[in-house]
Amino acid sequence: MNSRSSILINTDLPLPVFYRGKVRDTYELDNLLLIITTDRISAFDVVLPSGIPGKGRVLNQISVFWFNQTSHLLPNHLVAAIDDVHHLGNYLPTESRFPYPSYLAGRSMVVKKVKRIPVECVVRGYLAGSGWAEYQQCGSVSGITLPKGLQQSQELSQPLFTPTTKAETGHDQPLTMDEVKGLVGEAIAEELKEKSLAIYSYGREYAKAKGIIIADTKMEFGLHDDRLILIDELLTP
Ligand SMILES: Nc1ncnc2c1ncn2[C@@H]1O[C@H](COP(=O)(O)OP(=O)(O)OP(=O)(O)O)[C@@H](O)[C@H]1O
Ligand SMILES: [Mg+2]
Repeated sequence: MNSRSSILINTDLPLPVFYRGKVRDTYELDNLLLIITTDRISAFDVVLPSGIPGKGRVLNQISVFWFNQTSHLLPNHLVAAIDDVHHLGNYLPTESRFPYPSYLAGRSMVVKKVKRIPVECVVRGYLAGSGWAEYQQCGSVSGITLPKGLQQSQELSQPLFTPTTKAETGHDQPLTMDEVKGLVGEAIAEELKEKSLAIYSYGREYAKAKGIIIADTKMEFGLHDDRLILIDELLTP
């Protein structure tokens, strides 16, 4: 199932596995990681049995695009987008090289391996999804009270930072800003909020000018040499 047109569900590279997620398989490359976005479909925390051809390639390239576009706002983990599989040789010692499968092209990236911060940094620019459900019940989103009379899917005047836990299993739970400070300290908590809002706002305006609404998003951050950097995927649907 390795040609460009077929569906990639599983990978099996002769490298140490760092993590197999719902959608991506990540391998160790010494102090770097190789993240491969498969065509697996995850919905409501469940991986479905079938895949969508080319989905992983599109997701990977959307992330690469936004990492490049937003690097002036905060450095990120991207070292190289693998468009030509032979470039992987640059990241492996001679004895660990292997025939790189062609499916890696366009759907994989080499990134810096960092200590992950255990918070999902969600930003909402529109009153949709679970934000709308909470607003209807309590007039608030993640405990932040909003003006009365807002409509479903309405654009919010100020995007909201609504962080959650990063649950190992099950569904992520909302966190207040005080809880984020308790987990990571006040300075990092404030920086997570500021950078998340700045990156979302930049992406929202960029996409809006092209006729695309980014209603909300989730970012993850890590510490590299004690500095905050953006990791994982970025502004993907
Ligand atoms: N540069 C990085 N360094 C360390 N860990 C990273 C880095 N980039 C991403 N990760 C982690 O690697 C994993 C990527 O896997 P994936 O997103 O497919 O998993 P997932 O099933 O969505 O699970 P999760 O809920 O943990 O994201 C995530 O847990 C993410 O936090
Ligand atoms: Mg993930």
